[in-house]
Amino acid sequence: MSEVKKMLEKDVSRRSFLKATGIGLGVATSALLFGTGVAGAQTQGGVVTESPLPYAELDPEEARLRAHAAYFRAGCSYAVFYALLSMLRDKVGGPYNQIPLRMLGYGRGGAASWGTLCGTLNGAGAAINLVASDADTNKLLGELIGWYTITPFPTKESDDVAAAKGYKYDAKEYMTAALPTSVSNSPLCHASVASWIKLSGFPEASNERKERCARLCGDVAAKTVLMLNAWKAGTFAATFKVSDETAGCLSCHSDAQVGKMACTSCHEPH
Ligand code: HEC
Ligand code: HEC
Repeated sequence: MSEVKKMLEKDVSRRSFLKATGIGLGVATSALLFGTGVAGAQTQGGVVTESPLPYAELDPEEARLRAHAAYFRAGCSYAVFYALLSMLRDKVGGPYNQIPLRMLGYGRGGAASWGTLCGTLNGAGAAINLVASDADTNKLLGELIGWYTITPFPTKESDDVAAAKGYKYDAKEYMTAALPTSVSNSPLCHASVASWIKLSGFPEASNERKERCARLCGDVAAKTVLMLNAWKAGTFAATFKVSDETAGCLSCHSDAQVGKMACTSCHEPH
């Protein structure tokens, strides 16, 4: 049985287990039964804490695998959030068992297919914010977004893993071949998807485009885990810097606008 199939079946059996035993209603019971409850993470009343939840080092390649498979269930944003949260359920349990995995489903296609923030970044941001302080979330997510805008996707790592494992969930057709790569120069779903379509010639509705976004989910999930692992170990350092061109624009235009997106992806330089 493939790892993904096993994972999905485990997921389903856990869900029916939860249903059968009524866990999820009783926080104390679930912490007891899973044996992984985290002291202090929940109040007696069963309200989850507002403090960052405990993070445990995760396997980036497992995250890549889970996110890729999950994309075909409920989209990009769900996929990245699912990958991290399901692994934190396995490793930490406790409060993570109380957070619905479907929560980030709305982020697909840049939020209800509006093409705004790429769903992978939205899903990653939600997972990061669950474990990190607001200040650390800004640093981590800022770095992730910067990396996203300059990285050619899907990466060779995702192509290789796809080819080696032959993983898929229910894509109509599975592509083992390496896919064309594009750099979005933007955190927007619209720009990211459109530039890939323009470069590759595969239309939005094609299986290749879906597979590209699935591999992108794997790439972002793996990168997020690598960053969080480093952050947990105290070795994370942000390295992303906006381009010289954007820095130039910002040197005069920091009071009339908000953001760090590459200015000339929308404005003419003057
Ligand atoms: C040396 C300072 C400076 C730099 C560098 C600069 N701008 Fe401007 N920009 C201005 C000034 C001054 C105006 C006119 C302000 C106004 O009309 O209120 C302006 C106007 C604009 C406007 C409004 C245009 C309009 O029609 O009113 C946009 C958009 C803009 N700049 C974008 C950019 C971008 C993108 C960059 C980088 C590629 C950039 N600027 C670099 C000073 C600068
Ligand atoms: C995703 C597209 C997009 C990106 C990227 C973007 N802008 Fe804009 N910007 C807009 C839109 C849309 C407006 C509002 C409409 C207009 O005035 O053009 C705007 C307005 C502005 C204005 C006010 C223009 C005015 O007439 O007063 C400035 C200044 C500006 N942007 C600067 C920047 C700078 C600097 C960057 C890079 C850090 C940037 N923008 C990145 C789309 C974008």
